[in-house]
Amino acid sequence: MNKSTVFGKKYRTVCARAWPGKGATGTHILPLHQSNAFESPTMEEAIDVFTGRESGFIYTRYGNPTVNTVAEKLAFLEGLKSGTECHAILTSSGMSAISTLCYSLLKSGDGIIIHPSLYGGSLELFASEIKRAGIRVHQMDLRDTERLESLLKNGSIHASAIFFETPTNPGLEILDIEKICAVASRYGLKTIVDNTFCTSYLQRPLDLGADFTVYSTSKFINGHGNSMGGLIVSRDEEVIRQKVWKTMKLLGTNISPFEAWLINQGFKTLPLRMDSQCRNGMKVAEALEGFGWVEKVNYPGLRANPYHEAAKKQMDDFGSMLSVELKEDLASTIKFCNQLSFSKAPTLGDPDTLLLHPATSSHINVGAKVREETGITDSLVRLSIGLEDPEDLIEELDVASKSL
Ligand SMILES: Cc1ncc(COP(=O)(O)O)c(C=O)c1O
Repeated sequence: MNKSTVFGKKYRTVCARAWPGKGATGTHILPLHQSNAFESPTMEEAIDVFTGRESGFIYTRYGNPTVNTVAEKLAFLEGLKSGTECHAILTSSGMSAISTLCYSLLKSGDGIIIHPSLYGGSLELFASEIKRAGIRVHQMDLRDTERLESLLKNGSIHASAIFFETPTNPGLEILDIEKICAVASRYGLKTIVDNTFCTSYLQRPLDLGADFTVYSTSKFINGHGNSMGGLIVSRDEEVIRQKVWKTMKLLGTNISPFEAWLINQGFKTLPLRMDSQCRNGMKVAEALEGFGWVEKVNYPGLRANPYHEAAKKQMDDFGSMLSVELKEDLASTIKFCNQLSFSKAPTLGDPDTLLLHPATSSHINVGAKVREETGITDSLVRLSIGLEDPEDLIEELDVASKSL
């Protein structure tokens, strides 16, 4: 079956259309198979599925018609633009997508290189659980690809994988995916890119040479703040179906059918939300840039931003995540946040604008030294710009500044 012919050639078309659910009985909307197990007509048929001789569903931790359908649709979209076939596994959260993939690719004694500026939870995961499993974690500034190449070449670092986000959370640094992947592949390292801020609608790391993308689907992909989930995507069917699936099944990091169903509902409007949120992000960033009380705006869409050209090269638009540094101390920054009606919820990618103070929330456990090195000052505020009228957002930010 040529899926593009059946489901559409354009991202928006595929998103909006229902992807036929496995085991569906003609329902228009994907049915929710909220069952932990599946009956086999005979013992022989059950054995065939258990031993892998036949495909089928037996137990939801192994696979579920709702879950697999949503994973298939998300994988299809990842490869749509380049016309490549991708394969995906949904997991219970973004964190479990990262840990499941790391545990399936790496073993005790192996090394992984990570960029120092990452979501705080990911930094903690690498510093504690991944290290505890005997995997050596090397932090390195991946903006400097020449240094990366020379350290790999002269054998100072032995690693089998590289993990990074771009744009980074919350500094909005842009890392050159193509360059990093080219160096990595020369030395046999697998590249994993956390594409949560962009989704495959704005950026497709696999088309730029990455081996895997991971996502927190709890963010823009679901887009409504009512579901937790994670996603692992690759072109390598064998690795996804055998290695990653086995680790997911044994660690029990599978997503629940209801969460997958919610992702599917929210995902249908992703292009519309993204287009509108990118426009709003740009307007708010431009306004912030002009305010005297602002020290710095981190938004790659701004011409003056040091990552503007790099972002244009690999992103279709600049996203709706930004961070802003005030000319204030911790107490005044907290006061400023309190003046704003924006949701003070530690998440991103929802329809409404969300505010986060990284130093006292997402990055509280990474240590003051790391925060300082990665620009997470006490006066840094992260905003996930929503679907509101941007004029309301800009006015509110300016009014709040009067309290400083
Ligand atoms: C870039 C990024 N990756 C991963 C995660 C973890 O996702 P989850 O909260 O779904 O486990 C987050 C959470 O905020 C994130 O911002």
